[in-house]
Amino acid sequence: MCGIIGYRGSRDATAVVLEGLKKLEYRGYDSFGVASLAVNKLVVFKQVGAISDFGYADMPLTRTNLAVGHTRWATHGAVTTANAHPQLSNDGKIAVLHNGIIDNWEALRQLLVHEGFTFSSGTDTEVIPNLIQLYISKGYAFHDAMRTTLQHLHGSYAVIVLHEDFDEIAFAKVGSPLLVGRGDNEFFIASDLSAFAKYTTNVVVLPDFHYGFITSNVSLFSLDSESRVEIPYQTIAVDVDEEEDPAIQQYMLKEIMEQPRVLLRAIDQSKDRFELLAEIIRKSQKVFFTGCGTSFHAGLAASYFFASVAKINCTPFLSSETGKLVEFFDDKSVLIALSQSGETADVLDAVKLAKNRGAVVIALVNVQGTTLPLLADHTLYLRAGVERCVLSTKTFTAQLGLLYLLAHTVAGNFSLAHTILNQLAASIQEVLITQAAVIRQVAEKTYNNSDYFIIGRDFASACAVEGALKIKEVSYIHAEGFAGGELKHGTLALVRESIPTVVLVTPDTRTRILSNAMEVKSRKGCIIGVDSLPNSVFDYFIQIPHVSEGLSLLLCIPLQLLAYNLAILRGCDPDKPRNLAKSVTVQ
Ligand code: G6P
Repeated sequence: MCGIIGYRGSRDATAVVLEGLKKLEYRGYDSFGVASLAVNKLVVFKQVGAISDFGYADMPLTRTNLAVGHTRWATHGAVTTANAHPQLSNDGKIAVLHNGIIDNWEALRQLLVHEGFTFSSGTDTEVIPNLIQLYISKGYAFHDAMRTTLQHLHGSYAVIVLHEDFDEIAFAKVGSPLLVGRGDNEFFIASDLSAFAKYTTNVVVLPDFHYGFITSNVSLFSLDSESRVEIPYQTIAVDVDEEEDPAIQQYMLKEIMEQPRVLLRAIDQSKDRFELLAEIIRKSQKVFFTGCGTSFHAGLAASYFFASVAKINCTPFLSSETGKLVEFFDDKSVLIALSQSGETADVLDAVKLAKNRGAVVIALVNVQGTTLPLLADHTLYLRAGVERCVLSTKTFTAQLGLLYLLAHTVAGNFSLAHTILNQLAASIQEVLITQAAVIRQVAEKTYNNSDYFIIGRDFASACAVEGALKIKEVSYIHAEGFAGGELKHGTLALVRESIPTVVLVTPDTRTRILSNAMEVKSRKGCIIGVDSLPNSVFDYFIQIPHVSEGLSLLLCIPLQLLAYNLAILRGCDPDKPRNLAKSVTVQ
C-alpha cells in the first residue's frame, strides 16, 4: 500500500516521477505528493485525489534532476492534503515519503514534542523527518542522522528521504518493498519495477534492514552491522505484454477479456519445472495453501482438485490467520503461497513462519522482482502480464490454471492437463463472447438490489466465495458466496422477493445445488443459473460450455463480468474501488 518513487539523473525528474506514480497508483490513490530538489530548494506539491486525474501542468513544479513522489493509501490519518506525503520536518528542509507503518510513532512523537517539535499531520510518518532534524541539530551528519533515526523506528517501512542541502536521495527498507534501478548515469528507486521498467530493468531488490544513498552512485549499508554492503544488480525479465494504451478507459474489462491468452501463457512453462515441484509435493506429508483475498480463493478452489486429482488432502488457510497453524509446519510440509503482487504482508509473514519451521515454500507470483520469490524455495510465475485493476481477475485464472496443472502433474498426468487447459482457454473465450449480453441484462435487472448471494458445491463453493468478493469490492453491493448446503443454516433467513442468488451448477453437484436453488425460489428469490444446461428453476440462464474437467476455471468468468456490469450500472469506478488497494503491504 502506498507507492513511492524517486529519480536522480539527467532527465526531467519531475516528469519521470509523475509518470512512475501513475504506474504505482494501484498501491493507493486517495492522495499524492511530489517533491523536487533544485539548487538546494525543496519544492513540494500535495493533493487529495488520484494522480491519474492530474497532469504536470496542474502542478507548480518545474524541471529538475532530482524528484520523488508518493501515492497514498491512508493508514494513520484521514485523507487530507496535510496527511499526504511528503511529510516535512519542522524546519522544512527534510521531506520523507513512506510506505508502511511505524508502530512506535506515538512514543517517538512524545519524545519529539518534549524536544519542542510540533506536528501538523495525523500520520505516523511525520516523526521520521523530525527525528532526522533532531539528530542533525545535535551535530550528526545527514547520513548518521538517517541511520540513527532508522534505528529508533519499529514497524515496517520503505522510505525515501530528501534533505534540501544535499543533492541525494536517502532510502531505507524494512518489511515494505523497495528496488533501486540503474540506468546510464541515472538511478531510480521505487516500490516496484513497473514504476520505471520503461527506462531500466537492471535492479537491486533491497533486502530488509538495509538503507542507502543515491548520489552520482549508489551506496548501500546494513542497518544491523552499520557496514557498507555490495549487492549485485540483476536484470529482471519483465513480461511487458502491452505498453499502456491511453485509449483504455477500464482495465477491469480489458483484463477479464485477456484471460484465454493469459491462461495459455501461464501454462506455457517447462514440464520439468512442474515435475520437480510435483515430486516435492509427493514426498511431503502435509500440503498447505495460503494467500489473501482472491489469491486465497484460488488456493481454496485448488484444495478441491488436489483432493480429487492428486488424492492429496491439503489445508487452505488465510495468511492473516496463520496463528495456531504454525505448529503444524515442519520439514515434511509444503506451503504453496499465492500472491499476485508478491508483496502482501500477511502472506510474507506466513511464509517466514513456515520457513522457520523447515517447510518447503512454493510461491505462485505474478510480479517479478518482489519479495515473495526471494523468500520461497521455488517460484512459479503466473506470467499474466501487468494487472492494473485493483480486482484480480486474470491472475486468478492463471493461478487456477497453474494449480490445476500441478495437481495433475502430481498424479502423473501433466500432458493430459495441458491439453485440457488448452481447450479450457477456448471455452473461456466462448463464455466471454456468447454470454456478455445475457450477463449485461442480468446486471440491468438486479443492480438496484442491496444483496446478492452466490452458491455452489464442491469447488464451485470456492468460486462462489470469489464471485461474491468481486461483486462487493467493485459494485459495493453486499454479496455473500458460500456452499449451497449452508443456505438453510442461516442465509435463507435473508432471502426475500427478488433478491438475486447466482447458482453455480456442475455436473457432479447438479441435483443438490438445484434443490438449494428451489429453496430460494420458494421464498420468491430470483435465480441466476450458471450451468451448461437450462433449467426451469432459473429466472436467468448464463450458459457455460459443457466440459468434462477443469470447470472451476470457467465458473468465475461470468461472475467477473457480472461484477463489472453491476459496477458500471451503479456508477462505480471498476479499476479503483473505494478504500482498497491492490498491494497490501501492511498487516
Ligand atoms: C488486495 C487486493 C485483492 C487481492 C489481495 C491479495 O486485497 O485488493 O484483489 O486479492 O490483496 O493480493 P495478492 O497480491 O497477494 O494476490
